[in-house]
Amino acid sequence: MSAGLAQAAYIVAALFFILSLAGLSKQTSAKSGNYFGIAGMSIALIATIFGPEAQGLTWIILAMVIGGAIGIYYAKRVEMTQMPELVAILHSFVGMAAVLVGFNSYLAHIPPVSTDLPVKHAEHVIHMVEVFLGVFIGAVTFTGSIVAFGKLRGIISSSPLNLPHKHKMNLAAVVVSTLLMIYFVKADGSMFALIVMTLIAFAFGYHLVASIGGADMPVVVSMLNSYSGWAAAAAGFMLANDLLIVTGALVGSSGAILSYIMCKAMNRSFVSVIAGGFGQEVSVSSDVEYGEHREVFAEEVAEMLKEARSVIITPGYGMAVAQAQYPVHEITEKLRAKGVDVRFGIHPVAGRLPGHMNVLLAEAKVPYDIVLEMDEINDDFPETDVVLVIGANDTVNPAAMEDPNSPIAGMPVLEVWNAKEVVVFKRSMNTGYAGVQNPLFFKENSQMLFGDAKDTCLKILEHL
Ligand code: TAP
Repeated sequence: MSAGLAQAAYIVAALFFILSLAGLSKQTSAKSGNYFGIAGMSIALIATIFGPEAQGLTWIILAMVIGGAIGIYYAKRVEMTQMPELVAILHSFVGMAAVLVGFNSYLAHIPPVSTDLPVKHAEHVIHMVEVFLGVFIGAVTFTGSIVAFGKLRGIISSSPLNLPHKHKMNLAAVVVSTLLMIYFVKADGSMFALIVMTLIAFAFGYHLVASIGGADMPVVVSMLNSYSGWAAAAAGFMLANDLLIVTGALVGSSGAILSYIMCKAMNRSFVSVIAGGFGQEVSVSSDVEYGEHREVFAEEVAEMLKEARSVIITPGYGMAVAQAQYPVHEITEKLRAKGVDVRFGIHPVAGRLPGHMNVLLAEAKVPYDIVLEMDEINDDFPETDVVLVIGANDTVNPAAMEDPNSPIAGMPVLEVWNAKEVVVFKRSMNTGYAGVQNPLFFKENSQMLFGDAKDTCLKILEHL
């Protein structure tokens, strides 16, 4: 394949990747987004394998067959709930690839300086910086992703590693690596500096993620997703491959935007997530008097639903734990058949993964058009007869709006308490992820339906 044709193919592939991201941003177009991604990647692979710079075709194909077989095997076996672990381990591969490309690029091109011309010299310096940064980002991504994988898998303790002076250690790692980079460039390449920095970056990546509590892992995974994109972009610079630069930048920036959205929806700063420790030491304020809660039973809830004209269901992490999405769908269908207007209100950080609730509801075949985002539905609660809060807690906590001292103060929430009746499905009066009590449970129009959400939904179904 000529260089011009390969370049044209790269541009087409880059366009497909952009279309893919656009498609993935909506449920209805997510499937076509995946197809665009597959098409873009196929074009990119063909253009690279048969491109002007390709060498060792047999080795490439052998590696692809082995890698592809392992990939297909795991992709077929993975459960939806194990998706974050799979993504985390895949990021570690991207990180390692960037480290290897960096070392290879150093060995193949850096010493000695090829020419004394000023332009060539500038290019040479830029290339050395690319190699150094690429290896650094790759190494941090590699160990960070392995720790994230271990925490999600339960192989590594999910509680944050709280070493003394942890922030100072992180800062020292960055400062020493920067000094090593200056030395590396001044010495016109130094294997010693490169190896020492790689070891520091491995330790830095490990420490960075080990210091973060297990519950913050989704933000961390999306942050590592972003790093893996930058590592790929750095590899693209080292290999002078434009498509890899574009693709890496797309992944890097979309991961960063996702991390930002998640942090904003939890009203947390990105720095506080990275600094670690949240979700572990928040104490439940016991001195506040909340009053009495009222209990209700499945049969009464079924009656309430039969009488209702409009119902909103706000699911949360508990629906995922109980796997209650299937009976919830059946309840929805039964009520819709009776002419009740049933809709779902989804908080951006309900559950433990971005889009967690949307995936579960799609799995149970709940129609997309009745699944609305928080901003789309929040004004409709006052006109709603019954709200079913199924295993959600923090995402429906009025304290976020009413109590400025609450750890979740300022977090936007689903204002379910404005509806006529609220039924909260959970097993006990325990707190949710943020460890704060929920005054919703004690409001006059709220009633608690205790039990595993799947069991209680099945009981309601019987009575419907
Ligand atoms: P949570 O506040 O975590 O509350 C979930 C509730 O479900 C718990 O109070 C629990 O009460 C109940 N529950 C657990 N298992 C249950 C079962 N089998 N049956 C019935 N109920 C059950 O949930 P949420 O409202 O979805 O909020 C999500 C939280 O996670 C937010 O604080 C958010 O910031 C955080 N977070 C989210 C993400 C993303 S990206 N989604 C990432 C990191 C952190 P019982 O124990 O009494 O049953």
